[in-house]
Order: sequence, then structure tokens, then C-alpha cells
Amino acid sequence: MCGIVGYVGDKKATPILLNALEKLEYRGYDSAGIALVSENSIAIHKTRGRIADLRCIIERDLVDDCTVGIGHTRWATHGEPSDVNSHPHLSKSGRVAVVHNGIIENYIELKHHLESRGHSFSTETDSEVVSELIDYFYNGDPVSAVREAETMLKGSYALGIIFADFPEQLIALRKDSPLIIGVGNGENFIASDIPAILKHTRNVFRLGERELVVLTAKRVNVFNTYGERIEHQITHIDWDAAAAEKGGYAHFMIKEIMEQPDAVAKTVAPRIDECGNIELGFKNITDDDLRSINSIKITACGSAYHVGVVAKYFLKNMLGISVEAELASEFRYCDPIVDDKTLVIVISQSGETLDTLYALREAKNKGGRVVSVVNVVASAIANESEEVLYTWAGPEISVATTKAYSTQLVLVELLGIYMAKLRGSISSEKVCELVGSLQRIPSNIALELRDVQSIQYIASLYFNCQDVFFLGRNIDYALSLEASLKLKEISYIHSEAYAAGELKHGTISLIEEGTVVIALCTYRPLLEKMISNIKEVKARGAKVIALVNADDDQTQNVADHIIRIPACSEIEASSLAIVPLQLLAYYIASLRGCDIDKPRNLAKSVTVE
Ligand code: F6R
Repeated sequence: MCGIVGYVGDKKATPILLNALEKLEYRGYDSAGIALVSENSIAIHKTRGRIADLRCIIERDLVDDCTVGIGHTRWATHGEPSDVNSHPHLSKSGRVAVVHNGIIENYIELKHHLESRGHSFSTETDSEVVSELIDYFYNGDPVSAVREAETMLKGSYALGIIFADFPEQLIALRKDSPLIIGVGNGENFIASDIPAILKHTRNVFRLGERELVVLTAKRVNVFNTYGERIEHQITHIDWDAAAAEKGGYAHFMIKEIMEQPDAVAKTVAPRIDECGNIELGFKNITDDDLRSINSIKITACGSAYHVGVVAKYFLKNMLGISVEAELASEFRYCDPIVDDKTLVIVISQSGETLDTLYALREAKNKGGRVVSVVNVVASAIANESEEVLYTWAGPEISVATTKAYSTQLVLVELLGIYMAKLRGSISSEKVCELVGSLQRIPSNIALELRDVQSIQYIASLYFNCQDVFFLGRNIDYALSLEASLKLKEISYIHSEAYAAGELKHGTISLIEEGTVVIALCTYRPLLEKMISNIKEVKARGAKVIALVNADDDQTQNVADHIIRIPACSEIEASSLAIVPLQLLAYYIASLRGCDIDKPRNLAKSVTVE
């Protein structure tokens, strides 16, 4: 969590840092600050609150021409959000200022060590030990002080560091937390993510694990852990800068929901050739390897895990082998059964989620064949996987994922169809039919997005409710996990996803007059059973909103409201069912006046455990 930025150049650093921090607010937003260096002194401006609060403070107090600085937007882990706990942290001597993203696991031990040597601390954070530790080792050589301090750090870190004695340079390094370097013309940048600096440069590279970079206005020198200079290939970012802006929408979330037809098309279309064959472009995992796979494990967190649960049903049907989906935070510690015949599919939008990264490493250590499904190019998970399938969804800014989820799902399905064809577990006619279905998903999502009024109407009836239960069977149950998460995370309404058949084993006691139940009824083989479940909750006073197939003429007789998905095949339904429920969550949260793109306590990229 947290976003860090840094600037060194010939322009005023303050507006550049503030603007960059605004672009990183999705990573954390409980406090923010900047540090500026000039004429051998460092000035710190920081506050609890958002970047807008920091802007007010700076505009009130500051007149400066500094051209070098670092900035931070925080998602608190150690110590409450407060002015004093905000970053940057300035060492007591005033010589070193640091911004940190990650967690220093041994900070208590380091604090004691430094206290016994006369250093003192004013915050409850783990990060303050970094500035004091670097200061402790500093004797005129910034790089060796940083490297010496680093040998004592345990945990994850992306660090931006300035020294009062070196007002024209900025140092950064990283381990297990993301950091990109932006290379400009007479100016250079560091940032946790690309949108922060897109306004200034499109030439970027990602700093490797434990690499250290020294930036001045004209130079970018990267060193490995042996102190050797290394070169990085620069990637030119060709996104439209507007893709990282709201483009006229009230929130990034609704913009990203609306972008789904395009995002899914960009993910699927380039992987299907003119004869309808799937091309995944694997280089390390061969077709023979895929033929010899005898089980699949999918691991991820949050919504990406939900993609795994939906995909599990599909892959099992396609391949007839064991497929399991496991939360990465559990997988990494559960001694999973993985060998060289296990395909491990790791799913992550950011490519930086720490639990997912460690689950990937666990899978690799056990000899598993690892394919990751990732949105952010060259992120840690992408870099460490044997094969990576990029979702090409474009930047996703809203904390609650929508377009990344949809693109992840079609990509895992594409992999499943590819494997099923190789292994002969489905006919070539079935392959054509499934590929055709995936190609139709974008236009069908576009159809759904044309009619938001009916969803807005349902939102207006129920936005004040206290509890919502999502029910489904089979793949509809898997989908209800994501639908429920979408609603609760942005609207703060309590909601639960329940396998409909499990209802009478406890949950039905919570259904009373007016309780809202959203019944997902797109899985045709179990529709009758879902209708019985709807009747059970209706008999206890529930208000039922049913999500049904286009041709369903039964459910409307039992539910209070019907949402229809377009006419489609089963594989399409798994993509189409979530869209109206994303919209419903969005409009409910909007009517409740919630901070939709930045829900409380959450951050976009969870780079801590
Ligand atoms: C929910 C949401 C999160 C993420 C999860 C994993 O809307 O976005 O649950 O899905 O934190 O993040 P990534 O995909 O970046 O690994």
C-alpha cells in the first residue's frame, strides 16, 4: 500500500509531487506529505487527510523554488493516521528524509538498536527506523549509508530518500514493493505506479529487486547489490493519458465498468487468429507440458480469487481434471500439493499483491508450472512467472475492480479452451463454438450497459437497506461471491454470498420481512432448485431481485424484480452476469454518498501481508 513519488529536475518540485500523489491516491489516502531539499536543508510538509488537505497546507505556508523532492500518500499499517505518523520521515539530525511503501518487519528490534545508540523516535511507524538507520550509517556517502542500512532491514520496501547534503539528487531502492523510474528530458522521476508521472514522461522502467538508483536532473544510475552499474531497457508507455483520467465520468469505477466491452475485446481479439485458433504465445511452457498437466491450482486474492472460483467450474468441465481455487494468503502457508504436473494459475490485476507473489514463489519452489494472468506490465508477479498472460485492460484506478476482473475471467477461459483442444478433451466444433462465444462477450456487455436505468431504479428502491444476501448455485454461486464483495466494499452495506442449497443450514434464520435477496439464476441445469430457494426466502418476507437469462419465463413469477442478461451461451453468461451487479453496487453506493473510488480502509494495491 501507500504511494511514493520523487522528482529531480529544473522545475518547481511541489506542484509536480502533489499532482503525482493525486494520481496515486488510490493506493492509500489517510495522510500525505512531501519533503523538499535545497541549500543543504530539508523542509517537510505533511498532514493527516487527503492530498487536497496537503495542498491547502502547502498553499497557505509555502513559498519555495525547490526542484528536488519526495512525496507520499499513506495507507496506515503501523500507527494511526495522524500528522506525526505521516511520511516523509526526517531523521532527528535533519540530514535524511525518507518515504516508504511496504512494511519493515523488524522495526521494533531496529528501534531498540538505534535507541541504545542515542537515536530517538517520534512516530509509531515502522518507516521512521529507515530514516534514522540511514542517518546512523551516514558519513558523507549517501549510497553506502543506504546500502548499509538496507542490510539490516527485513520486510518489503520501496524507498525514496533525499539527503540535505546532496540537494541535487534523489536515491531510491526497492524489495517486494513496486517502484518505477520515469526518465525525462532534464528531469527524472520515481513513482509507485505509471499514471503518477505520465503527464511528464512516457519513458519508464521498473527497478529490479534490491536495485538502487541515483537520480539527478541529467542522470539515472542504477546499481545492483554488488554496487555494479546496470542498464535497464526503457519501455515507452503508449496509453492515452486520458485513459488514466476520469474522462467525464463521476468516478473511475463507472468509467471502468463502461470500458469493459473494449477491455475484453482487447484481451481476447489479439489471441484469436483468422482461422479461429487460440495463440497464447507461450515460450517456456510447451504444448507437451500442458498435455501432461494432471491438476490445476488457481491462487489469487479478493476479486481475482473470485475469478478463480468461477474459472474452476469451467476448467473442470473442459479438462476433466482436478481444479482448485485457493486464496493466496492461505495457499502460501498450507503446504500445497504441487509438482511439475500441476499448472498453477496466479491471477492479479496489479501484479504486486504480496500474498499472491509469495503464493507464486511457493508454487515455483514446489516445481509447479506457473502461468500468471496480470494487468500491469512488468510487475513483480509477471516478472517471476514462467509464462504471463496480460489482460491488456488498461490502467484500473478505482479501488474496486471491474474491468480487470472481466478480462481476467475471459483470459483464464481462453487458456482452458486452448488446453482442452490440445488434450482432445473437447471436439473442434466445441472449440469453435466457445471461441465464438468469447468473441461475442464485448458486444453483449455493451448491450447491458445501454440500459442502466432499470438498474438505477432498483438501486433507488433498496439503497437504504442494511443487509443483502446473494444466492446462487454452481457457477452462479461463484459469481455471487464477487457480486457481494462489489456491493459491500463500496457501499458499506453488509452482504453475504451464499450457496443457495446451504441456506437452510443456518442463514435462513437471518431472512425477515424486507431483507434483500439477490438470486443469481443463470445456471440453467439448477434453475428449478433456485426457484424453490426464492420461494423459501419469499415465504419469510424477503424482497427478491433475480438475475435471469433472456428467455427465462419462470423466475418472474416468484421474484419482485427481474434483471435479464442478453441471450447467450453458458460461457458468456459467466461474464455477462456480473455486469448488472457491478452497476447495482455502483448506483447504490452513489445514492448513499460513498467515496466510491476510494472506499474506507482499502487500497488498490495490497503490497503488505
Ligand atoms: C476488490 C478488489 C480486490 C483485488 C485484490 C487483488 O474489488 O479489487 O479484492 O481483487 O486486492 O488485487 P490484485 O488483482 O491486484 O492482485
